[in-house]
Amino acid sequence: MEALGAAAGLLLALCLLAFCLYCCYVKYIHAKYDHIPGAPRASFFLGHLPIFWGMLGKQEFVHDLFLQWAEKYGPVVRLNAFHRVSIMVLSPEGVKEFLMSPQYPKDRFVYGRIYNIFGERFLGNGLVTVCNHEHWHKQRKIMDPAFSRTYLMGLMETFNEKAEELMEKLEEKADGKKEFSMLTMMNRVTMDVIAKVAFGLELNALSDDQTPFPHAVTMVLEGMTQMRIPFLQYMPGKQKLVKEVQESARLLRRVGRECLEQRREAIRSGKEDTLDILTQILKGDALEETRDDENILDNFITFFVAGHETTANQLSFTVMALAQHPEILERLQAEVDDVLGAKRDLDYEDLGKLTYLSQVLKESLRLYPPVPGTLRWIDKEHVVSGIRIPAKTTLVFSTYIMGRMEKHFKDPLTFNPDRFSKDAPKPYYCYFPFSLGPRSCIGQAFAQMEAKVVMAKLLQRFEFELVPGQSFKLLDAGTLRPLDGVMCKLKPRSVARSCQE
Ligand code: HEM
Repeated sequence: MEALGAAAGLLLALCLLAFCLYCCYVKYIHAKYDHIPGAPRASFFLGHLPIFWGMLGKQEFVHDLFLQWAEKYGPVVRLNAFHRVSIMVLSPEGVKEFLMSPQYPKDRFVYGRIYNIFGERFLGNGLVTVCNHEHWHKQRKIMDPAFSRTYLMGLMETFNEKAEELMEKLEEKADGKKEFSMLTMMNRVTMDVIAKVAFGLELNALSDDQTPFPHAVTMVLEGMTQMRIPFLQYMPGKQKLVKEVQESARLLRRVGRECLEQRREAIRSGKEDTLDILTQILKGDALEETRDDENILDNFITFFVAGHETTANQLSFTVMALAQHPEILERLQAEVDDVLGAKRDLDYEDLGKLTYLSQVLKESLRLYPPVPGTLRWIDKEHVVSGIRIPAKTTLVFSTYIMGRMEKHFKDPLTFNPDRFSKDAPKPYYCYFPFSLGPRSCIGQAFAQMEAKVVMAKLLQRFEFELVPGQSFKLLDAGTLRPLDGVMCKLKPRSVARSCQE
């Protein structure tokens, strides 16, 4: 009994010691970074976390608070969470220095968190999350040809075909009364597109997105949002969700594996010459001495995750902005009528003629970037805007914040596509919705072609109206998306009808 008491006493003493040591360490970290401007910490241990958690609970948008801090504290702002400190760098010079160079890797601590999802391998070492430069470079070199101009031109047929299927679904709703979420519809079409062009899969999410594969993609995205809540995996009320997300991650990998086997078989028997992303991945794989199927599956999932929701969010934010700005919508419809008339499908050449549509899409990405920013890790000390940042620190870069600062964009909260007209000055390292430098988005041109085809057809065929009472708030669900899903009502456009008659 006595021995038990002594052991308990010793354990308590050790815990107390560990706690005191941790307090000293947190204090040391504070001293190391407190010369960097930042908002007062809400708690000694938790730093700014209670402020963020409080906002999350009220569905408030934390990036707007960061914007206020950027305005108040300047271009280098400190963020505390436990003993970790991240520094927001919001000067064009800082963005240029760190994003344009291959020297600064992505932050392992943050990107590593989506290697697995609730214990199941998820994005692993795929192209978005891989932090090791050599490993990333090898993969990127293999993938680049699948995103070359020649290859993308060949995708116009699929973009047109899938966008046309979307139009058919929208026609069924276009009675001026039915209310539906534009975000949902855009998610379905972009999922069908990426499945087809990346892996030759016909998902038909537009007809039914509750079939197992599209549902699994939606579930893992939901899992990515939810896993940011600390200890969620262990909460009794969340076990059903956790299980469903784990099963979804397994299902995606299983389908990926089947797809891989079938394609290998087709290549072996000389049947296959599709130049899609999968063929490209397999070609690269053939050059490797060690075959790493798990890495291939990482990329299978990565392309589904990175390649559809982002574009869907951009498209629905654009519809939201246009419905709020009738004069811009009218000008855009005039351009589409002028370039397309009643023509059903777009040619590659038409895309270049839709210049105002390009401007509208760019302006939409300034105010509503689906990916708000990126992170880098510095191993050595740096001085940014005259402020010393200690070695071994995470740097945060935000196009959302910089895109909304008066300093960089006059009257920043006004939706004005003319900022991106041919003669307007180009934004200098303060606008990077696709990131910048070597780790920038490989799918940028792909996404903007797809977005243009979908938007042009939508504008050609329909008048849209927003259902009243929506908040127009943004939701940070890993990517930024419209909180209310852009609820719309549609009517066929009389211009398009008369063109077709
Ligand atoms: C509007 C649509 C899109 C936006 C706004 C967007 C944005 C971005 C951003 C900001 C990054 C950098 C991420 C980071 O630093 O962590 C990125 C990377 C990436 N994106 Fe996109 N993206 C879009 C569409 C696409 C599409 C359609 C694909 C695939 C077909 C794609 C595939 C990727 C991949 C593979 C990477 C990692 C690139 C690398 O590190 O080499 N994205 N994207």
